Amino acid sequence: MTKIAVIVGSTRDGSFNRALGALAAARLEAHGAEVTLVDLATLDLPIYTAALEANAFPADALKLKATLVAQDGLLLVSPEYNGSIPALLKNAIDWASRPTGDEGLVALSAFRGKAAAIMGASISPFGGIRGLAHLRQILGTVQMLVIPDQVLVPSAHAAFDEDGQLKDALPASLVDMTAARLVAVAKALTA
Ligand code: FNR
Repeated sequence: MTKIAVIVGSTRDGSFNRALGALAAARLEAHGAEVTLVDLATLDLPIYTAALEANAFPADALKLKATLVAQDGLLLVSPEYNGSIPALLKNAIDWASRPTGDEGLVALSAFRGKAAAIMGASISPFGGIRGLAHLRQILGTVQMLVIPDQVLVPSAHAAFDEDGQLKDALPASLVDMTAARLVAVAKALTA
């Protein structure tokens, strides 16, 4: 079974991106993926420093990396903070990008050669497009194949109903389509 991890760049109670991540996880499962939800709120990840890496590599950074190494693909769902991605998410990517064990300096075993998709929800009418552009670039840098499909949910405060479902059919269908493509590409890359 194709294994996909879903990582959300917000830990906020009532987060629109967490709602979007939950919807997308359900669609990934509907398209045959085995989904692992990576909840950054449960991981103790200090801001990356070389000193911590050398002397006290955080146990949760190892745990995060091991979880990602075991995946065939990743779905990242993130808000835009000041035109980029939240430090929370960048820091998690930075830790997971570091070599461990016998790996060479740029092994990138959590990411290299795997499929990724990106989604984001924002309260602005622009939907966090600048954040997703940065996220796409970062994931390319760690050698992921980021599929062209992406989902933006603008005006997120008005986009979800009380059950966390998207009110409009168009973004809901884009979530489904993107999930289907991510599973198909991840599967093809690991065949
Ligand atoms: C934001 N927000 C925001 N929105 C946006 O579209 N572009 C931006 O550059 C920013 N910048 C920004 C910075 C910081 C520090 C915060 C806390 C927020 C607003 C953001 O879209 C809104 O808070 C979302 O609700 C965050 O996503 P979650 O937590 O609902 O998933």
